[in-house]
Amino acid sequence: MTTLYAVLLTLHNINRWLVLLAGLWAILQNVSGLNGQRPFTPAERRPIAMFMGTLHLQVVLGLLLFAFMGMQKIPVFAGARPSFEWEHLGLGLLAAVFGTLASVQSRKATTDQAKARAAVLWSALALLTVLLAIPWWRPLLRLFNL
Ligand code: HEM
Repeated sequence: MTTLYAVLLTLHNINRWLVLLAGLWAILQNVSGLNGQRPFTPAERRPIAMFMGTLHLQVVLGLLLFAFMGMQKIPVFAGARPSFEWEHLGLGLLAAVFGTLASVQSRKATTDQAKARAAVLWSALALLTVLLAIPWWRPLLRLFNL
């Protein structure tokens, strides 16, 4: 394994957990606001911003990996079904779009309840898409050989 491939793959592998944790946190922090009884404060916004940030970082790392593997002629997702490469790329990008919408739409909404609804809806869609995109047969924590 060439060094840059190993470094990028390990970072992409670890950041996947930050994406999942931030997504879960964004949903849990905002579900209690769905009934309109709870104000939308910076504490509610924080995990949404983190979710979007980690998703964007994951896309950048993924695109770098993809470009580098292409240059080095390393096969992408060797051994997986041929369509997985494009499913992974497409679902990963879609998740980042949904995560961005969670942030934008919860900011644009005018009431606290509408903010919480936008946050939960788009974060849940993004999290579901991430779960579908992840190649679960690959190492869970590559850094520790797990
Ligand atoms: C945003 C959601 C995404 C998540 C959660 C995610 C997660 C993962 C995981 C867990 C792996 C396996 C890492 C390992 O084997 O240690 C992986 C591999 C990879 N991902 Fe992503 N990814 C995402 C988006 C993307 C995007 C948008 C691209 C863009 C091209 C991409 C490109 C790749 C590539 C090239 C590999 C390596 C394949 C190989 O080693 O054969 N990923 N991804």
